[in-house]
Amino acid sequence: MAEENKKFAVLKFEGREIELPVVTGTEGDKALDIQTLRRSTGLVTIDPGFANTASCRSQITYIDGEKGVLRYRGIPIEELVKKSTFVDVAYLLVHGTLPTEQERLDFSSMLNLNSLVHEDMRRFFDHFPQGAHPMHILSTMINAMAAFYPNVDINTTIANIEQSCARVISIVRTIAAFAYKKSIGEPLVYPRHDLSYCANFLNMMFDSPVRPYHISPEAVRLLNILFILHADHEQNCSTSAVRVIGSAQVNLYATISAGTSALSGPLHGGANQAVIEQLKMIYKDGDIHKFIKMAKDKNNPFRLMGFGHRVYKSYDPRAVIIRKECERFLARSGITDPLLDVARKLEEIALKDEYFVERNLYPNVDFYTGILYRAMGIPENMFTVMFALARLPGWVAHWREMIGDSTKIVRPRQLYIGRTIQEIGEELETRSSRFLL
Ligand code: CMC
Repeated sequence: MAEENKKFAVLKFEGREIELPVVTGTEGDKALDIQTLRRSTGLVTIDPGFANTASCRSQITYIDGEKGVLRYRGIPIEELVKKSTFVDVAYLLVHGTLPTEQERLDFSSMLNLNSLVHEDMRRFFDHFPQGAHPMHILSTMINAMAAFYPNVDINTTIANIEQSCARVISIVRTIAAFAYKKSIGEPLVYPRHDLSYCANFLNMMFDSPVRPYHISPEAVRLLNILFILHADHEQNCSTSAVRVIGSAQVNLYATISAGTSALSGPLHGGANQAVIEQLKMIYKDGDIHKFIKMAKDKNNPFRLMGFGHRVYKSYDPRAVIIRKECERFLARSGITDPLLDVARKLEEIALKDEYFVERNLYPNVDFYTGILYRAMGIPENMFTVMFALARLPGWVAHWREMIGDSTKIVRPRQLYIGRTIQEIGEELETRSSRFLL
């Protein structure tokens, strides 16, 4: 647990000295506790993008952005990738420890029993326009879940919470596969009780009455790895959205829907699709250096997608594993993807370029993920959906942690920089009186 109130930082302001407690985390990180600052001084703090603000205390995930370390509940991701499945990791994130044999069976059984989409919800799929992005379908459907499966507010019983958490992790996978099937005009494939989480997803995506899908153990292994690596990442944008929305005591499904919407943005989970689109553009053009130049140009909004990270100032440890798996899978399957060559070249140039070196811009989790998904036959508009499926246990774990704390509603302050008090002038008076008529 965090060690509190043993050290203080002193702030000097307007002739006064104010002591602010320093809180130390279990890995030695230190934080200044400013909760009483406004009360004692009238000051608020400004921190755009919350780049320097710890919005909560959390026991779930640890990141050392300088050293490229990522651990879930204390266990390094490299270990988890080697020795566990995505379902184990989901359990670990949500419950705090890896499951025993019995706990794994019970959890898997819960996921299985809660994998069906309500039959009335199924009809919703008929009314989305052709070509709708699956992420939009996903967040809408998740939000609708509260209407079909009530008892998901924070005051419900622990049994209901357990079931809702398992349901959202399981059912969203079914919704995602249904959204894809709908988009290609094929009949929906239902989940099967005899398949593991990842195998089930692949089967729902690719099986068809006229083209039975052979579930490849290699694809299942890779999906487990990719999902484990995306399962949580502490207070990222979508998880923060989950915590912010959840702090208003909104039900679980609405909070997860909000997280899904946040994830869809190209600066966040949408980057995996954006990377592939960019790599294609570069490949077609043929001039990599032109794009590097554009990325460095301050007057050009163009950025190298899949590069840079708010927290990592070294190589993203997830990208290290994904790049290796990507190279291995493509080589073993005899797939040659020209986009992999473009990606390698881009990385090579960027890692030597002063602009990227100075700013610590390295490939992030999204840089090689899309190439691997492409090789696995996952369509491009499903890439961000894959990220969402993988991030579900993280969102659920943070929601549970948040409702277990005595957390206040999230309500930041601001520094007002608008006009000072105005009187309604003659011109405005005439305009507003027109409204009154
Ligand atoms: N290409 C070119 N320049 C960049 C890039 C990039 N991809 N990323 C950051 N920079 C520059 C930025 O212009 C700024 O330069 P300067 O200091 O001269 O103004 C400097 O690096 C710091 O960037 P920032 O925007 O202040 O950093 P941030 O922490 O606010 O943003 C980021 C992090 C991930 C949004 C950003 O690096 C980015 O837009 N990357 C591309 C999109 C991307 O790959 N997103 C996926 C992130 S990982 C998965 C996830 O979290 O979902």
